[in-house]
Parts: sequence; C-alpha cells; structure tokens
Amino acid sequence: METENINIGLLGLGTVGTEVAYQLIHNNNIINNQKSKVQINLSKVLVNDINKKRPDFLPTDKITDNPNDILNDNNINLIVELIGGDQIALDMINQAVDKKVNIVTANKLIMSKYGHELLTRAKNNGILLLYEASVGAGIPIIGPLYHSLTANHINRINAIINGTTNYILSNMSTGTQTFENALKQAQNLGYAESDPTSDIEGIDAAYKLSILASIVLNNRITEEDVYREGITKLSAVDFKYAKDLGYTIKLLAIGELDPENVSLRVHPCLISNDHLLAKVEGVYNAIEIQGNPIGNIIFHGEGAGPKSTSSAILGDIISIANNISNKGANSPVNITDTTIRYIDYIHTSSSYYMRMSVQDKPGVLAEISSILGKYNISIASVLQTTHNQPDNIAELVMITHPAVVNNLNTAISQIEKSNQIKSVDSLVRIEDLN
Ligand code: HSE
Repeated sequence: METENINIGLLGLGTVGTEVAYQLIHNNNIINNQKSKVQINLSKVLVNDINKKRPDFLPTDKITDNPNDILNDNNINLIVELIGGDQIALDMINQAVDKKVNIVTANKLIMSKYGHELLTRAKNNGILLLYEASVGAGIPIIGPLYHSLTANHINRINAIINGTTNYILSNMSTGTQTFENALKQAQNLGYAESDPTSDIEGIDAAYKLSILASIVLNNRITEEDVYREGITKLSAVDFKYAKDLGYTIKLLAIGELDPENVSLRVHPCLISNDHLLAKVEGVYNAIEIQGNPIGNIIFHGEGAGPKSTSSAILGDIISIANNISNKGANSPVNITDTTIRYIDYIHTSSSYYMRMSVQDKPGVLAEISSILGKYNISIASVLQTTHNQPDNIAELVMITHPAVVNNLNTAISQIEKSNQIKSVDSLVRIEDLN
C-alpha cells in the first residue's frame, strides 16, 4: 500500500492542545498508523502569544500566531480545532470547510449552535468533520451513536455531562457543604473556571445534550431547544433531606427522544440512590442510553482533562487517516429535517421535592394542602421540623405525587403569597429513571 500523509494544522495549545501535540510527536502508534499506512505529521500549531515559553518537545519552527500560515498551506489536509469558544474558532472551521480540509474539533458550543450547517457543508464538500471530544471528552458516545448503536430506536438519554457541577453536588451531598464553598473548592482544583456561569447554569450540559439529541433525532437541535435550570439555588440542607428520603441530587441532562414527544432538559433532580447515576461521583461523567433492542447501557469515565480529551481527538484523527487511506471521504452524517414535536417543559409531569419555611401555627398545613389540591397536586409525604429554626417557624419538606409542572408553578406562586408562608426555599424535580 502506498504511504500517504496527513498533515495537521493544530489550532490552540492549551492543556488539551499540548497533550495532543505531544502524542502526535511522540506516540509511534499514532504517527505510523499501521492499519492505514498513513503517515500522520504535526505540521503547524497556531498560538495566541508567540512569545510565551512553549514545551521543549515542540520545535519552534512549527509554531505560528498567524492563522493564514495554516489556512493557506496547501499541504495541510486536517485542521484540529482546540481554541474553544466561537468567533475565531468558527471562522477557522468555516474556512477549512470551504477549502475542503478535514476537521476534528472538541468545540461543544460550535457543534451545538452551528453543527447542523457545518456537517451538511462538510458532507457536501466530501470532507469529514469529527467531534467525539465535544461530549464527555474521551468517553466514546458520538461514535457509538453513529455506528454501533445505529440500529436502535433510542428513546431516552439520562446523562451527567458536566464534571464541574457533579463535583460540586458530590461535595454538597454530605449535607454540610454550602454551594459557595463547594464552588470555591472546584475553582481551587482547576475544575471550575473563574467565571463558572456556563457550568453552574447548565449551559455547558445543554450544549452537549443538544449535540447528542441531534444525532439521535437526525435533526437540527441547538442548546436553545433545551429547557435549563442551574444548580445555584440548592442548599446543603436539601441534600440532607434528599438522603433521608432515599435520594441524591444530580444535575441531569435528559432527552426524551420519541420524535412525536421530544423533551430536552437540563436541571437538578432527585434520583433514587439505587440508580447507577446516583453513584457517579466527583468530576466523572456518565451517559445512560435507553434503546431498543439494546436496553439500558451506561458509558462512564472522565469527562474532561487533557488525557481523556486527547484520547477522543487522536481517535478522530486516526479515523480520518483511515478514511483517507480507504479513499472513502464520507461524512457519517446524513442530516434530514424530519418533523419532530417538542413537549413544552411546563406541560410535563413529575413528582417534586419542595422545602419551605412556614409559620408554626394551626391551619398552615391545611392552607398549603388546600392550594395544592386546587391544582390537582397530591402530597406523597411530609416532614416537618422546628430544629434549628427561628421561633414560631417550621421547616416543611414535601414530596408530591406526579403533577403537571405548570400547575405546580401556579400553586407555588399562590403559596408564596400567603402571609403564613415565610419562603419557598427549594423546588426540585424527582426524576424516576427506571
Ligand atoms: N467544563 C466542562 C465540565 C468540561 O466541567 O464538565 C469541558 O466540557
């Protein structure tokens, strides 16, 4: 077999870019990929600051701060985009598509917002755009959805796909740690960014869920189609009550994927301690796929970090090398715009956990249950304590039977208006995953 070359232009040299560059230079299994006989070379690396000290393993003549050194180099036939964010990264990817250069990216924001258009144009131009690292880093999920699971009717995804929030919630699960402290710890360990908004508000998870849903539904789905709540309103005491009731609190990304009744949502929820997802701790990610005929399967592993992320990126690079050597430059995608119908989140039903501070006097519980009853919400259990509460105040924790979200929201706003109720402090969906 004749030897061909893959010449890579690497965009970005952060922690992940540095690991990818190191492996491309030093890992013989990658450089001389024996299956395809394609020689993989790292040709150029684009950096922001050319004067910054770079690792010794990287020859200085490979480094540039001029994007055109990569885009105008006709020998470069694969761009690996690890800049992150949009704007510059999107501009570079667009130019690469126009020039018919294959692309590997880890960019969840771009794949969520613009993936449909980019994949369509890539396919039309006969190039590959692979993005395994954009969801769950090295956990293989995009490849399996396109390939090994493709015979399945996938009806649901339950996923923990943000390590930062899972780390924070795991720390809070002891029932003693505040959200603020847990966040600070995550920042000190380098898991959370100095501006943690995208993680703690569920935006990052919404990007990732929309990417997975768009593959399953073979449709254009962006993060705007995902209902989203973050984790900032949870208190240590909610974890204590949840534990007493047999639950744990997780930020789940949930896709209900029957095309006639699609619901995509990212929000904290109480899940039974018996479910495997309840046991996913720290920065780990896990993605449960429920499909027919496969049944339920869970992918679990490190969902961030240079080692895990580079595994997916290098895998995509080798796939492209194999594809070039097989002369079959076909994108795995065949996007259609078949009709799907979304269920509005407020019309879904669920049991709920709620915690409120109330006046400790006769008739208060009766008033609350009467408002709930008016909106067809049935109470499944009630806990009340005056321990650690101000005088004449009680803390009330209720679990409801399944109720329509819209009814629940209306009932809560009515309850909040009562002068017997000091505050409704927590309202968390209970997700029955089985
Ligand atoms: N910020 C993400 C997380 C990692 O905490 O999981 C990159 O997707």
